[in-house]
Amino acid sequence: MSEPLKIAIAGLGTVGAGLITLLNANADAITARCGRELRITAVSARDRTKDRGIDLSGLEWYDDAAKLAVEADADIIVEMIGGSEGIALDTCMNALKAGRSVVTANKALVAHHGMEMARIAEENNVSVLFEAAVAGGIPIIKSLREGLAGNSVSRISGILNGTSNYIMTRMRNESLDFESVLKDAQDLGYAEVDPSFDIDGVDAAHKLSILASLAFGAQINFDDVYIEGIREVSLMDVQFADELGYRIKLLGIAQRTENGIEQRVHPCMVPVASAIANIEYAINAVEVECDFASTIVHAGPGAGAGPTASAVMADIMDIARDNIVPLFGVPCDKLDAIPTVHMDEHHGEYYVRLMVVDRSGVFAEIATILQNHDVSMESVLQRGRAPGEPVPLVMVLHETREADMKAAIKEISALDSVDGDPHMIRIELLHG
Ligand SMILES: NC(=O)c1ccc[n+]([C@@H]2O[C@H](COP(=O)([O-])OP(=O)(O)OC[C@H]3O[C@@H](n4cnc5c(N)ncnc54)[C@H](OP(=O)(O)O)[C@@H]3O)[C@@H](O)[C@H]2O)c1
Repeated sequence: MSEPLKIAIAGLGTVGAGLITLLNANADAITARCGRELRITAVSARDRTKDRGIDLSGLEWYDDAAKLAVEADADIIVEMIGGSEGIALDTCMNALKAGRSVVTANKALVAHHGMEMARIAEENNVSVLFEAAVAGGIPIIKSLREGLAGNSVSRISGILNGTSNYIMTRMRNESLDFESVLKDAQDLGYAEVDPSFDIDGVDAAHKLSILASLAFGAQINFDDVYIEGIREVSLMDVQFADELGYRIKLLGIAQRTENGIEQRVHPCMVPVASAIANIEYAINAVEVECDFASTIVHAGPGAGAGPTASAVMADIMDIARDNIVPLFGVPCDKLDAIPTVHMDEHHGEYYVRLMVVDRSGVFAEIATILQNHDVSMESVLQRGRAPGEPVPLVMVLHETREADMKAAIKEISALDSVDGDPHMIRIELLHG
């Protein structure tokens, strides 16, 4: 049997402690599968006195994780602190420059610094692995980098944020509005006190930018991801979606088009019969459409100590077995800088809900504006009659260019008979 692989862990919170628990539980099988023992030698966290429910005796303790990265008696550094800058970045960079491979679950760090880390890793002949950074326990990185490596991927669509999916699921299943589900989710610990990263789509965008790079052999380009969260999705829209045969999901979509790659995170209406429509609560799912394997749907827990530790361990085991492939599937200098298509150039179908004053002639005005912008209607729903009062008017629009759709909506919202802002949700026709 080969020498043990020595591991230093920076960060002993949910994931770091979960990793130690997993290794303790399955050490014999892991050793057999790697052909060598995995041995934790050193750890770092902020508070040395905290009871973490794990035995840290015999492990070297570092108050400074950046120091652990270079000084610990370890072959690899596992970064489980979090955050795209500061100590997490310093720890990873120090480790790579010192010729040590890094395993991280940190999507923000990889989205913002993945290219730089990959270059430094290549220069130092070491690796950076990040399976746990996207969709927790689902082995989506390995699937794209290895399992589907023989395919050309045309589109990835994923529920990449469990908190948002939890909120959307409860709004629909319990007929609750966004604010009350969010408050409940915070009380139950499903949502952070500051939930903005989750519900405003930033967390999903970090993950999407990583998946897009792997899928399309492109450099990570987080800054060009179009991001819209779920704050504006109302219970009324959730209920109309049901009536029209859709579910509303916050999706991250990366799609190859003639003009480049679309990267977008926003609420979508997806057909109720699609696999993704039926992924509920905090579960994640990623659908990959490719030329030979067709459409593959991956689903499973996207967070939590066990699932995340499982993904981190898979990366550590790859390093222990010397099973190393380039970080983004191809060497850094072969990654293209593919232009991101501006959201205005997106083509798709749309759901639009207006509150219009119930009087004759209103619908004709709206139809004329749509026609002037080359937007054509597939169906219309009007509910309730209240002469002189605003009532919902729901339209499903045929495939059109986003810029035309937005221009039409802007004009419609300026009509005297339209009350408040129109609600627009993109319709996404999935294949899985
Ligand atoms: N939780 C999940 O389900 C999940 C899922 C996928 C990915 N991730 C990613 O995994 C990473 C870790 O998440 P987590 O949920 O485990 O976070 P967490 O529970 O907040 O734990 C963070 C750990 O980092 C330590 N830490 C903070 N600042 C430090 C510093 N300056 N020096 C050394 N240690 C420091 C903390 O120490 P103390 O314990 O002493 O305070 C704590 O042990 C993040 O990048 C996150 O995005 C998490």
